[in-house]
Amino acid sequence: MCGIVGYIGGRSALQVLVDGLRRLEYRGYDSAGVAYANGGAIGIHKTRGRIDDLQNILPNPMPEAKAGLGHTRWATHGAPSDRNAHPHSTGGIAVVHNGIIENYQQLKSRLIAEGHEFASDTDTEVIPQLISGYMRQGMPFEAAMRRAILELKGSYALGIMSVWSPGKVFAVRNGSPLVVGFGQGEYFFASDIPAFLPYTKKFSFMEDGQIFILSAGEAMLEYLDSDAGPGKGPAQTVPKIVEIGWTAEMAEKEGYDYFMLKEIYEQPKTVMETMREWLDNPLDMLPAMGITTRMILGLRRLHIAACGTSYHAALVGKYAVEGLAHIPVEVEIASEFRYKNLLIEKNSLFVSITQSGETADTLAAQREAAKKGAYTLTICNVVGSTASREADSVLYTRAGPEIGVASTKAFTAQIAALCLLAVALGVRRGRLIADEAETITAQLKKMPLLLEKALASGPRVKDIAATLDDARSMLYLGRGINYPIALEGALKLKEISYVHAEGYPAGEMKHGPIALIDKRMPVVVVIPMGSLFEKTLSNIEEVKARGARVIAVTDEPASLHGKADETISVPSTHPVLSPFVNVIPLQMLAFHAGVLRGNDVDKPRNLAKSVTVE
Ligand code: F6R
Repeated sequence: MCGIVGYIGGRSALQVLVDGLRRLEYRGYDSAGVAYANGGAIGIHKTRGRIDDLQNILPNPMPEAKAGLGHTRWATHGAPSDRNAHPHSTGGIAVVHNGIIENYQQLKSRLIAEGHEFASDTDTEVIPQLISGYMRQGMPFEAAMRRAILELKGSYALGIMSVWSPGKVFAVRNGSPLVVGFGQGEYFFASDIPAFLPYTKKFSFMEDGQIFILSAGEAMLEYLDSDAGPGKGPAQTVPKIVEIGWTAEMAEKEGYDYFMLKEIYEQPKTVMETMREWLDNPLDMLPAMGITTRMILGLRRLHIAACGTSYHAALVGKYAVEGLAHIPVEVEIASEFRYKNLLIEKNSLFVSITQSGETADTLAAQREAAKKGAYTLTICNVVGSTASREADSVLYTRAGPEIGVASTKAFTAQIAALCLLAVALGVRRGRLIADEAETITAQLKKMPLLLEKALASGPRVKDIAATLDDARSMLYLGRGINYPIALEGALKLKEISYVHAEGYPAGEMKHGPIALIDKRMPVVVVIPMGSLFEKTLSNIEEVKARGARVIAVTDEPASLHGKADETISVPSTHPVLSPFVNVIPLQMLAFHAGVLRGNDVDKPRNLAKSVTVE
C-alpha cells in the first residue's frame, strides 16, 4: 500500500533508494519516483510503472546525491500516471507519502482559493503546497512543515526534504508504518524493514505523532505536537532501537524465479521455526503471553479478527480451539468487526491475526476490542510492527519476511501458532487429555516432513494446472476444518491467476451453487480421510453427476479411484492438522495457473501486500 524510502549518509543516495524501492515493490507498483539533493536544488524523476521503468528514466551515470526520498505507489487518489507519481513538490519542497489525507479536499479548496496551482490529482500534493503557503506567509521551512503536518487528518507516513533545509531529510509518522534504520553515520527510513536489510539490522519503529530529523551524523526524534504547543518547538525523545533477526538473504529469491514459489517451499522450515519455542511444552506459551490460569479458566469467548488469508487462518483456529479447548470462538473480518456494535462480554480474549502487523482494519479492530476492555493478543509476523506494539501480548509467527503479495508461508505459520494455542488452552482448561495433546504435538513435530511430502506433489499439480487453461471459474469445496482451506485455495487462485473462484462448504452446494456446475467448471475438493470423508464423497458424486471435472486433494487416493478425475495425494495426519498439508497443493495450483497465464504472480494486478488504508 505504497512504499516510501529515505536515505542520508555517505553512499550514493539514488542507488540506495532504488534498491530499497525494489525490496518494497510488493507494497504497490503503479508508479515510482525519487527526489534527491542536487546542489542547491532538488532533482526529481518519476514515472508511471514499476521500479524498472524508474531505473530506465534515471540519468546514467546517476547523480552523486547523498540524500533523497523514494516512493512506489498503490494508487488511492488519482489514477496511476506520471503526474500522480510521487514525489510531489513545489517551492523547493518534496514529499513522499503512504496513507490517505482525509481532509485533502478541504485543504486543496482553501489553497486553490489562495492562488495555489496543483499539478496532480493526489491527496498528497496538499502537503508541499501547504508548507509552501506557510513559508509565503514568512514562516521558516521547519516551522511551516510542522504547522502543515498538524493540519493533516488521516493516516500518513511521510518523507520530506527541502532546499530550505539542506543536509536533512525528515520522516513523519501518523497511522502508517515507518521504520528508521541506523547505520554508521547514515540513516535510512522505509515503510517496511526489508528495504534496508542489506545495510543495517538496527531499526527504530516510529510512533504516531513523531518526526525524525535525519542528517549525515545525527538522528533527532521529536514529537510534533510538543509541550511547547502544536508546532511550536521540539519535544525530543530517545529512539528505541531494536536489532532485527532477519537477514538480507531472507528477503531475496535465492535461486527461485518467484518469491511466491520460494515462500511455498520454505514452509517446512517456517512452520517449525514458529513452533520451536513451544513444541515441547505448549503450556509455556500461555504465561509468556501474559495469559494467566485464572484468565483461562474464566474465559467465556475468544474473538478473532483478521483480513484475507489471515482471516482464513482465523477460521482454522476457530475449529481447532472449539474442538480442542471447547471455548466458543467468534471469527470476524476485521473491516466488519470495527464498525459493528461489539458485544464483547467480560472475560473475553481478543486475538488479531496479521502477517504485517500493519493492516489498517485489523489494527482498528484490535483498538476497538481494547477500548471495550478485552485482553488483546496478536498473532503477528513482524517484530516491532504496530499490532505487536499495541497489543497486550504477542505470539510471533517466525515465517521471516514474506515478499510475495499472495500470502503462503505466513498462513501455515499462523495455523501453527493457533494449533499450539488450542492445545495449550485445551490442556489448561482440562478439556484435552494429555495423551491426545501428546499425539497432536508429536504430529506437529513431524509437520516439516509431512509438508515436504505435500510439496512433492508439485510436478503433478503443475500438470493439472496446465489443463485448466480454459477455465473461467472454479469451485473449491471442503468441510469442517478444511472449509477455510477451500476458501483459501479459491482466494489464492483469484489473486494470482485472475480466474474467478469460490470456496464453499461442500454440504452447502446443493442449496444454491450447484446450479453453476457444468462440464466447464473444475471443482477442487479437499477430502481428507476422517469422519467427514463419506459425506464429502457424496458431494463429489453430486457434482460429478452434473458433469463437473473433480480435482481431489486427499490422503486417501485409493478410495477416490473412479470418483475424482484427478487426485493430488497428501500425507495423512491428525484431523485438526490436515489444513497444513491440504493447503500446499492449492497454493501450488494457484501459482502454476498464474504463471501459465503469463501473470506476474509476485505482483498481481491491483493488489498491494500491506493494506495500510481502510
Ligand atoms: C492474500 C493476502 C491478503 C492478506 C491480508 C491481511 O494472499 O495476502 O489477503 O492476508 O491483506 O494481511 P495481514 O496478514 O498482513 O494483516
